[in-house]
Amino acid sequence: MKHFNTSEEDATLSTFDFFVMQEKILITGASGFIGSSLVDEAIARGLNVYAAVRKSSSKQFLQDKSISFFEIDLTNSENTNRQMKKFFDRVGSFDYVVHCAGATSAKSKKDFDKINYEGTRNLVHALGASGMEIKKFLLISSLATYGPGNAATRKPIDMTDIEHPLSAYARSKQKAEQFVKSIGIFPVIILKPTAVLGPRDRDFLVLFRTISKGFEISIGREPQKISLIHVRDLARVAISLLEISTKSTTYIVSDGLNYEKRELNLAIRHALGKKTIHINIPYFLGLLLVNINEMIHRMFGKLPFLHSEKFAEVTAANWACNSQPVWEALDDYSTYTLQQAVDDTAEWYKKNGWL
Ligand SMILES: NC(=O)c1ccc[n+]([C@@H]2O[C@H](COP(=O)([O-])OP(=O)(O)OC[C@H]3O[C@@H](n4cnc5c(N)ncnc54)[C@H](OP(=O)(O)O)[C@@H]3O)[C@@H](O)[C@H]2O)c1
Repeated sequence: MKHFNTSEEDATLSTFDFFVMQEKILITGASGFIGSSLVDEAIARGLNVYAAVRKSSSKQFLQDKSISFFEIDLTNSENTNRQMKKFFDRVGSFDYVVHCAGATSAKSKKDFDKINYEGTRNLVHALGASGMEIKKFLLISSLATYGPGNAATRKPIDMTDIEHPLSAYARSKQKAEQFVKSIGIFPVIILKPTAVLGPRDRDFLVLFRTISKGFEISIGREPQKISLIHVRDLARVAISLLEISTKSTTYIVSDGLNYEKRELNLAIRHALGKKTIHINIPYFLGLLLVNINEMIHRMFGKLPFLHSEKFAEVTAANWACNSQPVWEALDDYSTYTLQQAVDDTAEWYKKNGWL
């Protein structure tokens, strides 16, 4: 088994040795929530990190001096091909590619396909055409490709389940997976994370803000099973799999436990020291409001953040999942607990003025 440079002893090697030893990793979506944590983890593990960003990308979370920037727009195949070839001719192959760029919300349903599927296809084609020999290609996909688990049995979603994606987002991620699996030019690891929380995340921020204002809003009366993972645990899993996994493989990834949605709310209340008033919106009223809002947005050619497909996903009764195989493969079960993950996120939000 090969280990990246992790120990303090390794870090004292001369600059020359260090650079000769360092393997190159390209991380797409590096400016985003998960991508920037992948960058942090890869740096900590001694990899030579190339952060793939667009001209317009913020570098707010990419301040480490060791980061090299690689500018590509994945929806532009010509640009992606040209940049990749140029890099190969000047520097050589990337050793690893972690493809994390993607859209979780978009202006139209077509845009999900454009970024998540076509962007993946453009990247893989460009890597192949450049002549690079990639040791591992890791795709950050999503648990959403499965669609929610059975509401009646509440059985956790398992890797062997048949996928029935509910949204254009989930279908675009599924198409991206199918494409990378079919290509066969380098070993492919597909990671399907559940909902991810942690510093820099904007999705859970809405829930933290609502609770910090003293409200807890639920839709429908049915209890919800959820699964979660802290972004640093996800980043650790992803980079570790590049080291240990020898063959193409797919994993669901969560912290290994499943929760009731109210347990998450309780942990946030605890982290923020808040008491809340609970407001329940009947399911059909929620659905009606979401549909009306979507119709209005559609008149202007837009898709609202909470559209009907997303509503179906976020209100689904069962997002419990079985991520045992990935933790067994890593032989490492040391994840953030729910309360630690929430506390860490809340602390970061407060420190950075987001809350
Ligand atoms: N957050 C979750 O809970 C979750 C759960 C499961 C799976 N995922 C997957 O994880 C990945 C990252 O999600 P995230 O939450 O970190 O999202 P995010 O913060 O919105 O980051 C998305 C990243 O993708 C980049 N990107 C978008 N379009 C691009 C393009 N055309 N060319 C190059 N880069 C482009 C963005 O660059 P700019 O900064 O330039 O916009 C940004 O760096 C996505 O693939 C998502 O499907 C997320």
